[in-house]
Amino acid sequence: MTDLYAVIGNPIHHSKSPLIHHAFAQQTQQDMDYRAVLAPLDGFAATVQDLITLGLRGANVTVPFKLQAYQLAQQVTERAQDAGAVNTLIFQQDGIIGDNTDGVGLVRDIVQNMGVQLEGKRILLIGAGGASEGVLHPLLACHPRLLIITNRSMDKAVNMVKKIEARDEMMLVSVDAYAFDELHQHQFDIVINATSSGLQDERLPLPPQIFAPNCLAYDMMYGKLTPFMQMAQQQGAHITDGLGMLVEQAAEAFYLWRGVRPQTSPVIAMLRS
Ligand code: ATR
Repeated sequence: MTDLYAVIGNPIHHSKSPLIHHAFAQQTQQDMDYRAVLAPLDGFAATVQDLITLGLRGANVTVPFKLQAYQLAQQVTERAQDAGAVNTLIFQQDGIIGDNTDGVGLVRDIVQNMGVQLEGKRILLIGAGGASEGVLHPLLACHPRLLIITNRSMDKAVNMVKKIEARDEMMLVSVDAYAFDELHQHQFDIVINATSSGLQDERLPLPPQIFAPNCLAYDMMYGKLTPFMQMAQQQGAHITDGLGMLVEQAAEAFYLWRGVRPQTSPVIAMLRS
């Protein structure tokens, strides 16, 4: 019997996840189907229950349900705890397991696909919402020299730093929060935009000299050249959108469900074309 999976979100019609997982299934010869499911804004838990009743084996969770998925899971992995959110559910006989593959997806895209090492580097992480929280720990685990969080609302960036400081093992990395206008004296090797500013084509008030020579500017949004990417490009940075991260987080979820690691580069190339 074909195993069933889904991605749950609201809205969900734009999701590329079915395309990605079908490509993985074909490549690895897995007998599975993967659908996009629209859950009502007040009906996430009921939707998950319906899917379990229908026999689904697992699901991805996207905006705006990642926190609810975290609360719904009976067991959460360490990386889901670090992120405070769940993007992958595994439905087992004895309950629902919640994991988070977003951070590992970003790190793999930067390190393996872009060929950029994070160890010893100076990283600027822009944003202090769910997307930023989801990638912070996996970035720190790669031992950058420095990681600065900047955000329009400074209190949220400061809170993220405080949470990190409460965890001893991460203190090997120098972590701090700066306001946008405190970045004038600083340069970074990797600048990651984890804000949703690109959605509205809004410019971030970043000082232009933050991009060090050979800098990688990464926008976690995908599908368009955002004002952040345009600015970084004008400053000579290498730029990329978040399509590779999308495929890599999907590959990690696929591995959790199927025990098989698909090749991501042909799928990234297929989506780019
Ligand atoms: P997500 O899950 O995408 O991270 P979120 O938790 O609502 O969504 O967080 C959105 C992030 O984008 C926040 O860091 C937000 O900044 P504030 O905390 O100051 O609201 C940031 N953001 C969104 N639009 C922005 C803009 N036009 N300029 C700067 N930051 C923006």
